[in-house]
Amino acid sequence: MGILKNITSSLASGKTDRMRPSQDLVPTTAKQPSSGLMNHLRNLGLKPAAVSLFFHRLLKKESTRALIKMGRTGLSKSRTGISRATEITGQELSSRVKQTARSIKHHSKPENLNKDYRKLLHLTQEMSYDHAIEKLFFVPAKGFVSLDKLTIDSPNKPFGHNYHPIHRLSFNWAMAQIQDQLRDFTFVDYGAGRGRALILASLYPFRKIIGVEFASELHDDANMNIAQFPRSLMKCRDVDCLLIDAVDFPIPDSKGVFLFNDSFDREVLETVLARITSSYRANPRRMYLVFVRPLNAAELDSLMERTVIFEPTYHSRSEKIRMQILSPDQVQIFRTLI
Ligand SMILES: C[S@@+](CC[C@H](N)C(=O)[O-])C[C@H]1O[C@@H](n2cnc3c(N)ncnc32)[C@H](O)[C@@H]1O
Repeated sequence: MGILKNITSSLASGKTDRMRPSQDLVPTTAKQPSSGLMNHLRNLGLKPAAVSLFFHRLLKKESTRALIKMGRTGLSKSRTGISRATEITGQELSSRVKQTARSIKHHSKPENLNKDYRKLLHLTQEMSYDHAIEKLFFVPAKGFVSLDKLTIDSPNKPFGHNYHPIHRLSFNWAMAQIQDQLRDFTFVDYGAGRGRALILASLYPFRKIIGVEFASELHDDANMNIAQFPRSLMKCRDVDCLLIDAVDFPIPDSKGVFLFNDSFDREVLETVLARITSSYRANPRRMYLVFVRPLNAAELDSLMERTVIFEPTYHSRSEKIRMQILSPDQVQIFRTLI
């Protein structure tokens, strides 16, 4: 404040010789204070020439210049920083908003709403109803295993579907459609995986239960699960899993329930169906084919129609509604005419 007061008073008096500019010391290009400021200074009683000289000297000082330079650099850097930050945040925000809008649009389509609902059902089934039986397994059957990682000695590997187990609810619901005496029937699981369906079948009084699996690790796990499962709970104890390709499996001569839980592509299914059909022709008998998560309902219908020996089973209205609401899977069942 003191220094400022001194300067102001010397400027006001215009006395000091030290501050009088020689003409060549005041550069013509020197920045003059703005006229508004000059008027203001004049009003304060300051002499314009002295003010000019003061500013000129002030601006000439190395330290002042350095200070101004620093100020300018700082200002420009912070401007750049702020505009960059705004740019980035703006970009991120707008891309996130766009992404969210796309996702909402996608999930609100009726077919996707249905898919999401089924996914939720899968999860709830896995965590509730399946969990109780899963606790009794030696090797957990839940989860997903890609066939790429498994030892499979078959040309049909490319047509095989990855491993995931059946839900207990879907299995029990399919079984409820079978009205015949199960003790006359052999149960066959095409693509038995870790054996969840084989164990679930063992809770019913089948004559025999056979798993057909071509991945050696899954086949071993299935047999381990069968061996360790509490015998007291099994209504059928003749349970076995074979390491064999579905197309090579010899069809049992008895009445049968054949399960296909999302096992393989049409190429393999056609061969298996042809074998089942010719076995039926050689020995007509009651057979059920249970398809869980079939490839495509219409495609399956036409495939089954071509066998001539199978017809679809029809469920009561209330059962259909119950399954529509509760089942994560689509289940289609066909049976032979006799
Ligand atoms: C979706 S999993 C079904 C698992 C089991 N059926 C269940 O419901 O828990 C399909 C299984 O089919 C088996 N698989 C696929 N193609 C096969 C084939 N040609 N022969 C035998 N098994 C096959 C796969 O290795 C896989 O374990």
